[in-house]
Amino acid sequence: MSEAIQVHPEYNYKVIRQFAVMTVVWGIIGMGMGVFIAAQLYWPALNFDTPWLTFSRLRPLHTNAVIFAFGGCALFATSLYVVQRTSNVRLFSDKLASFTFWGWQAVIVLAVITLPMGLTSSKEYAELEWPIDILLALVWVSYIINFFGTMIIRKVSHIYVANWFFGAFMITVAVLHIANSMVIPVSLTKSYSIYAGAVDAMIQWWYGHNAVGFFLTAGFLGMMYYFVPKQAGRPVYSYRLSVVHFWALISLYIWAGPHHLHYTALPDWTQSLGMAMSIILFVPSWGGMINGIMTLSGAWHKLRTDPVLRFLVVSLSFYGMSTFEGPMMAIKTVNALSHYTDWTIGHVHSGALGWVAMVSIGSIYHLIPVLFDKPKMYSIKLINVHFWFATVGVVLYIVAMWMSGVLQGLMWRAINDDGTLTYSFVESLEASKPFYFVRFLGGVLVVIGMLIMAYNCYRTIKSDSKEQALEPEAQAV
Ligand code: HEM
Ligand code: HEM
Repeated sequence: MSEAIQVHPEYNYKVIRQFAVMTVVWGIIGMGMGVFIAAQLYWPALNFDTPWLTFSRLRPLHTNAVIFAFGGCALFATSLYVVQRTSNVRLFSDKLASFTFWGWQAVIVLAVITLPMGLTSSKEYAELEWPIDILLALVWVSYIINFFGTMIIRKVSHIYVANWFFGAFMITVAVLHIANSMVIPVSLTKSYSIYAGAVDAMIQWWYGHNAVGFFLTAGFLGMMYYFVPKQAGRPVYSYRLSVVHFWALISLYIWAGPHHLHYTALPDWTQSLGMAMSIILFVPSWGGMINGIMTLSGAWHKLRTDPVLRFLVVSLSFYGMSTFEGPMMAIKTVNALSHYTDWTIGHVHSGALGWVAMVSIGSIYHLIPVLFDKPKMYSIKLINVHFWFATVGVVLYIVAMWMSGVLQGLMWRAINDDGTLTYSFVESLEASKPFYFVRFLGGVLVVIGMLIMAYNCYRTIKSDSKEQALEPEAQAV
């Protein structure tokens, strides 16, 4: 990340370059970890009888690395870029930006050290122990101050809709993180939640679901609202729809958490409320998806030649699929079949790999030449190869998990005439095994695609060309 690069010196591109490069690096590490734990589910001996290599310790490392390291870096890079470009002003503070970058990398490195050691709060997606949580909160607050500070000093009166989504994502994640991390420390590496029993579960899934809704959705929708129009060279299909989309999404998501706790000790009415809100959530989700896809009106032909646009549009298709599937799985009778099975894992990855990873990859491909002052990526052909590796990999992954999940659910509930279970648990495990191999294969393809991306980015950054980057013009901001 050379200091010598002087693209648009009026903006702070240094921090964007840092986060963009780390998105690719953490993407390879996090997804590589996903492939490793997928392999362990097929070949259990791969833990080598070593505690810190066990599935139980590496699984949270995978989720933290892909969500917070890969997804987080992509969100920082894009949000801090978009807020500068659409506000027509440099970041509020370069020092805070630098603190955000290095602080975030420190949080991730601490996660990489502590999670394999088995140090965990045991709350899913919030496993890090309290000292790291405090550092994370400080980094997050610095990020919020910088983002909103930039909006306050903006030179354009209008606030583009992408910034609304980024802003909501930041504020909500701060509230969720602080509320869910309330603990009583007993040592530097151990603490207990201040909440107990069903209340603890409710707070955890209020956090967990809104981590999905705001970290994995609202922030990436911000990305979508900027980079899809930019790459397509078209204005957003309907600005009015984007405003309705925003308010409907943020006011509904927050109620849907109890769908993670169906048939538990949580009061029944809470579960039903969570179910109802999840079903309604389908409407804004699809409104946003349609708004993104229809932005290509008049530019569909570009899909034939532009693999970056293909990444962005396919990501929206996966977003549509997972937000149709989610409300369906939130229906209690459907959840009775899907819960605890691989169907959930399939749903997660159709959202996480299909939507989150693909929209990030598309946006980073758009950004790299712009940030490093190159006319275009080193190889458009390689982006296309990456696109196919990623798409086939994701489809193999999620189809395998859907089949395995429905099979598991049906086998677990099959009952003989005399009321005994038809299948033992081990029989269901044996039936799932071939699908675990297919998931592993899908993951390998996705990671090969990421390695191709790293090579392509490296060659782009190192290339000699000093021409001003070509940015597609004619977008809405
Ligand atoms: C090469 C790509 C990937 C592979 C092979 C992979 C593999 C896996 C595996 C094997 C699990 C554990 C499943 C289980 O416990 O039965 C898992 C869980 C998970 N992964 Fe991935 N993953 C990949 C990419 C991603 C990405 C990009 C994200 C997010 C942006 C992600 C988010 C998650 C989450 C949230 C879980 C936990 C799901 C749950 O608890 O229901 N993964 N992954
Ligand atoms: C309208 C939108 C959505 C709804 C209503 C929804 C609903 C659900 C439901 C019912 C579950 C299963 C809960 C269980 O049985 O334990 C689930 C799990 C999950 N969903 Fe979604 N989903 C939606 C969109 C998404 C998207 C877009 C993503 C990712 C980007 C995502 C990520 C996840 C994750 C990570 C889990 C697993 C949580 C865990 O148990 O660890 N969801 N979702």
